[in-house]
Amino acid sequence: MGMGLWQTCVKLAMIWYTNRMKENKKMTVLTGDRPTGRLHLGHFVGSIENRLKLQDEADTAYYMIADVQALTDNADNPEKVRNNVIEVALDNLACGIDPTKTTMFIQSEIPEIAELTVYFLNLVTLARLKRNPTVKNEMQQKGYEEDVPAGFLCYPVSQTADILFAKANTIPVGEDQLPVIEQANEIVEKFNRFYGGEVFQKIKTIISETPRLVGLDGGAKMSKSLNNAIYLSDSSEEIERKVGLMYTDPAHIHVEDPGHVEGNVVFAYLDIFDTDKAGVAELKKQYEAGGLGDVVIKKRLIGVLEDLITPIRERREYLAKDPKKVMEILREGTERAREAAQATMQEVRSAMKINYF
Ligand code: TRP
Repeated sequence: MGMGLWQTCVKLAMIWYTNRMKENKKMTVLTGDRPTGRLHLGHFVGSIENRLKLQDEADTAYYMIADVQALTDNADNPEKVRNNVIEVALDNLACGIDPTKTTMFIQSEIPEIAELTVYFLNLVTLARLKRNPTVKNEMQQKGYEEDVPAGFLCYPVSQTADILFAKANTIPVGEDQLPVIEQANEIVEKFNRFYGGEVFQKIKTIISETPRLVGLDGGAKMSKSLNNAIYLSDSSEEIERKVGLMYTDPAHIHVEDPGHVEGNVVFAYLDIFDTDKAGVAELKKQYEAGGLGDVVIKKRLIGVLEDLITPIRERREYLAKDPKKVMEILREGTERAREAAQATMQEVRSAMKINYF
């Protein structure tokens, strides 16, 4: 080989490598919701806030309505999943997810995700699936034990496909989803080891800085199934009623009694949602000293939540008048996502040596 040809080869290799590095540095964000109900304040602080920030920072952003995942524990209730597709789309749009910045799509309309899931299933063991703490937890909540639907047990594998078909590398999730992403990274590692290298990148998570939102009842988590949630679509009356029910301090019977701030749900919410931190600190002092009634702190919280939810609710009501338009946004997004999926599958099939014709 002459020197000239050799130099050309080195140059080409360097160009290839630099492009590869550039591509790896691109931030592709992907998040999703299961369409099983309207979204609440827990979703807002746990993931929607991060989505809003990241749709401006990312090179590419995807938002997926995970209807296939929702069916893994709702196989007998397709209407529920179907009806909630538009509800979660409305919740996200109302909060400010912008379809010109975020590609919004429906999972089941990307059959490549199902295909990729089948290949990934070979890269995990049954023992590993059963050990996943997120799945274990949810199985316990749902009382599944050994009679867990296989699709449910395997949803972390399908979620890995959700992420990787789009070559997403940055996933904002709630803390409870961390073990799912950990398992996804094991699949990435194995795929690259078995099939030569560089199809997929390691996935990074971004966790919300806001502490997890407790339920109205002081339960560890705000959740639809626990019936302790304030929804992003709740009316003023509902907000007022729910704050009225909030758990405060059972020892704080008379206004003059000194009250506890720790474990007090109203203060937990004020800490998260009230931007006037000095004002909240002052209230806490008064509450602990005695002489401040629950009515006062609840009233303040009602005001704070009204300010947050009213614009979301109004925007939601406006968008809900034209469901066809919302479906059109999802259709367009799905088309774009599908193109990305087809490109990725070509690489996958070639790496796995299953590209025959
Ligand atoms: N499992 C997620 C949840 O319950 C939803 C989801 C499905 C998701 N696929 C995803 C989140 C991919 C992030 C990335 O909230």
